[in-house]
Amino acid sequence: MQVLSANTDNIRRAGRAIRGGGLVAFPTETVYGLGANASVGRAVSRLYAAKGRPRFNPLIVHVSDLDAAQRLGVLDARARRLAERFWPGPLTLVVPLAPGAPLSSLVTAGLHTVGLRVPSHPVARALVEAAGVPVAAPSANRSGHVSPTAAEHVAADFADAEGLILDGGRCPGGLESTVVALTGEAAVLLRPGGVPRAAIEAVLGERLASAQGDEVAPAAPGMLASHYAPRARLRLNAHEARPGEVLLAFGPDAPPDAARNLSDAGDLAEAAANLFAYLRELDAEGAETIAVMPVPNEGLGEAINDRLARAAAPRPEAGWP
Ligand code: TXA
Ligand code: MG
Repeated sequence: MQVLSANTDNIRRAGRAIRGGGLVAFPTETVYGLGANASVGRAVSRLYAAKGRPRFNPLIVHVSDLDAAQRLGVLDARARRLAERFWPGPLTLVVPLAPGAPLSSLVTAGLHTVGLRVPSHPVARALVEAAGVPVAAPSANRSGHVSPTAAEHVAADFADAEGLILDGGRCPGGLESTVVALTGEAAVLLRPGGVPRAAIEAVLGERLASAQGDEVAPAAPGMLASHYAPRARLRLNAHEARPGEVLLAFGPDAPPDAARNLSDAGDLAEAAANLFAYLRELDAEGAETIAVMPVPNEGLGEAINDRLARAAAPRPEAGWP
């Protein structure tokens, strides 16, 4: 893919490319997305093929505001409250598909629901605006690999693919959006992410139910146990590196020989922003096993621990990647 700096002219060019059926990777406040015109089956099909993503796993559709979202999905009162509080920002709402919504059925993987998100990153917002169409965008990594938080991560995963990469620097958040389903009685947390559970529960005035999915029938089809995986093995809840391991530390009490510290200060937002980049760096340095210190499970820590657990899970194929 061709890397372009994210200036006004290039964003306009990228918007035209999306409208015309091409692929464009772009920064969001969470991770880089790989965007395609969500209304055009051929474009979405190209996107699944480039990612190597199973077609039963639906895509998030990025739009400019609540009005645009309501042309694609049916947002009930709870969904609108969440949208008003957290959009633009790292929250994806899974809601019933609006009748006649101009979306390729590939985007929703044939489901009667759609995942909608209004990103806050200025480049993402300008691109959606310039495209003038709903933009389907999964994280811009090869399926199953660590999500990208910098343009060079995208370029590394898609060396041979055709399309553009808008380089907007590092993503400030570093973890994907929180995905909440509002399709039935209970509000269900399908994926912890950039908006902590407690903030959502405070707005809803109710607890979020947990997804009942498993590997055979995942609730958010993308939430297969093994995901976000670097090449190296991970050992969690480690307090030191054993022979043959490198230590990914967290907090001020890290041993001096740690290879990286997610946050010296023990700050969860800083740790979230560093996590995927550090996993990629340690991979590139040839680490065989990454020992990871415990991260508290509160606030953003829930999403960090979710990604670590998936990165540590047994891999589907022996030779991954
Ligand atoms: O932060 C993010 O959400 C990033 C940026 C690029 O926006 N995107 C992202 O997309 O993480 P992706 O495709 O990697 O993850 C989307 C998740 C998957 O687990 C997918 O199964 C779930 O959302 N999802 C999407 N539509 C859904 C639907 N209709 N029902 C249930 N789950 C859905
Ligand atoms: Mg992803």
